[in-house]
Amino acid sequence: MRIPFQKAVELLNSHQVVAIPTETVYGLAASLFSEAAIDKVFSIKGRPSQNPLIIHVDSSDLLQPFVNTFPPHFHKLIDAFWPGPLTVVIEIIPKSILPKVTAGLTTAAFRSPAHPLTQKLLKETGPLVAPSANLSGKPSPTSADHVEYDLGFDFPVLEGGICENGVESTILFFDQLEWKIIRMGALSPEQFTPILGYQPSVQLGDGNPNPLCPGQLFRHYAPQAKLILTGDPDPNIPIIGFSDRTYPSGSFVIYLGNSEDATLAAHNLYDVLRKLDLQQIKKAWIDMAFPASGLWLTIRERILKAATES
Ligand code: TXA
Ligand code: MG
Repeated sequence: MRIPFQKAVELLNSHQVVAIPTETVYGLAASLFSEAAIDKVFSIKGRPSQNPLIIHVDSSDLLQPFVNTFPPHFHKLIDAFWPGPLTVVIEIIPKSILPKVTAGLTTAAFRSPAHPLTQKLLKETGPLVAPSANLSGKPSPTSADHVEYDLGFDFPVLEGGICENGVESTILFFDQLEWKIIRMGALSPEQFTPILGYQPSVQLGDGNPNPLCPGQLFRHYAPQAKLILTGDPDPNIPIIGFSDRTYPSGSFVIYLGNSEDATLAAHNLYDVLRKLDLQQIKKAWIDMAFPASGLWLTIRERILKAATES
């Protein structure tokens, strides 16, 4: 249910949760200071309590009460990428944040979303926690329709259009004297090199029982359809592909966009994956012939996860 801006403010300021737009994906927001609302976030999503939440702020000044010392390059990163799809995980002052938010870790994740409506909202509500507004195990929602589909038509949603980036924020963590990417996202590793003087390594911790990003441990989205990533396209099954390429005649093709445009493919990716289930597709072939660099790395990682049967 789409709600007006003032209603969203009112709900968030009275221990309720609201789905909010960001430039990456829609978030399921609650006040950082409302334990009751935070409990609702975990129960609505069916989210494991060991998976911490990202704190959303409209300005880095709001981090002062929670953080004693900022790691090297922190302010340069913030100046370059906030507001925008960068989340930073840093050490916090003990007991300064509800342990439900951090899953009891000594660190917390912070980001400043660029969506103008949510920037305006944060000025009225103060810091908000917001995981992606999907049910755990579904792809993140990139439209208000996706949110309503997952959480129900009566669920309060602040409408902000279709998310520009379409994939989640990139998460950086300062560990052993260097920044590392612990979740790939809308910003690619190469984009940090001019700021840091080095390209941060990607440490997703796959298979590690104690990854730097706890979210890696939990069930990820896999459509009902079996995804085929290798071999030649089969004209008898749907194809997820690119509009500037040709596939066997008579194929049913769902387009990610143009093969030269990673930004557009990321923008469309979750909507395309959701379409597979909506159309009850049982098997699909995906065109994986795209570069192993830049934003394509994030697209590849999300597709590989979606193709893993769990
Ligand atoms: O783009 C985004 O980041 C979206 C929008 C709504 O802002 N939010 C989002 O939240 O993707 P969520 O909850 O779906 O993913 C948050 C990720 C999880 O994998 C979690 O484990 C990780 O951030 N995280 C949160 N706090 C952390 C911490 N202290 N240390 C390491 N990872 C942390
Ligand atoms: Mg999520």
